[in-house]
Amino acid sequence: MPITPSDNHWSDFLDHARSLDASDPLAAFRSRFTLPTGLTYLDGNSLGPLSANARESLARVVEEWATLGIRGWTEGRPPWFTFAEELGSRMGRLMGAPAGSVIATGSTTVNLHQFLATLYHPSRERSQILMDSLAFPSDRYAVVSHLALRGQPADRLTIVQAGSDGLLLEEELESRMNFRCAMVVVPSVVYTTGQLLDVRRLCDAAHRCGALIGVDCSHSAGAVPHQLFAWDVDFAFWCGYKYLNGGPGSSAFLYLHPRYHHKSPGLAGWFGSCKERQFEMADEFTAAEGAGGLQIGTPNLLSMAPLWGSLTDIQDAGINTIRAKSLAATDLMMLMLDKAADSQGITIATPREHSRRGGHVAVRHTEAMRICKALSARGIVPDFRPPDTIRLAPAALYNTFSEAASAVVALNDILTTGEFERVSRKLPLVT
Ligand SMILES: Cc1ncc(COP(=O)(O)O)c(C=O)c1O
Repeated sequence: MPITPSDNHWSDFLDHARSLDASDPLAAFRSRFTLPTGLTYLDGNSLGPLSANARESLARVVEEWATLGIRGWTEGRPPWFTFAEELGSRMGRLMGAPAGSVIATGSTTVNLHQFLATLYHPSRERSQILMDSLAFPSDRYAVVSHLALRGQPADRLTIVQAGSDGLLLEEELESRMNFRCAMVVVPSVVYTTGQLLDVRRLCDAAHRCGALIGVDCSHSAGAVPHQLFAWDVDFAFWCGYKYLNGGPGSSAFLYLHPRYHHKSPGLAGWFGSCKERQFEMADEFTAAEGAGGLQIGTPNLLSMAPLWGSLTDIQDAGINTIRAKSLAATDLMMLMLDKAADSQGITIATPREHSRRGGHVAVRHTEAMRICKALSARGIVPDFRPPDTIRLAPAALYNTFSEAASAVVALNDILTTGEFERVSRKLPLVT
């Protein structure tokens, strides 16, 4: 029975959540994961948990190291020498990317640096880089440092501000793209609000004005279906440790549109070499064609290995099924938050429309940090993003609807009783 806003008893919501759990096609996937004991883990948009498949693929590479030593480079399963390429192709299939256009490498920030070094060619007429005011800080730091490295004045960076509702407007971004714009760098999902941007539309607009466009997919990979090639994205980059469950510091990925596959990397290194030539140890670098050419040094095998298994979980579940459950869970949370919002001084920062929502729900409150600490004290793991945002991510592979609903009940309780007022104001080192 669908629940409506008039069913306003918390117990009705909790019953409804239980009925959703009973018919959840992904319910069995939860048992694949080791979740922190006694906690309701709603922070998979920061760090996904460990699955049995990820543990197994990591253990396999460790075992190969023990038993094969250096021979693991050719005899590992898959061989370590082509692990990044093979993992990249599996990831590429999930992201709607053709063969050879995705590689597992580096970190999100390093991969953006590589794209800036490879694809940003400022000229007198065209040198502007366009970003938004809600970009993840590291993306902005990377762009600013590139402008400085290239001797470009700092005002070559144009920042498009969010509207008064805290959301970005595609038409506003479009209206700031002009003949001076060389590159646009945007997130697919905004890390604070959880807003999903219309990437296809932004790609069309960037190309109409002659600019390249790159997308930070860290908050959408593994949660939202992508069609990077069909959307005509020029380049994309994303981490492996959020919804992809690759573990802390796991390898990131990058996508390079095939039209640039012949280009030499801006930052060259021997692992970007054409595989057949790499061990010739030639003085001259011969880049591999495709995304692989953008690798720099030796791949971090132990940080890639868990992704081999964790991608299997996502493939088995199917990204469309993951997305459907994620939307149903965030729908439920927002419906419940609406009830809490009336009297508790919170606002929901995440858009209501499915087409504009990523995988988490963002709640704003002036005391967000202390509320997060109070939730943590009750065994619920959200996260806090300054100055006033609480993020709650019900991840489709391992969270239940009941967990999502109970977290909102707890939040309401913390607000009603003023429990957060007894919590210290000290900002933790990691939030
Ligand atoms: C949206 C986004 N972009 C970039 C980064 C930085 O990623 P990394 O530390 O892998 O470079 C993060 C980290 O959380 C992120 O959330």
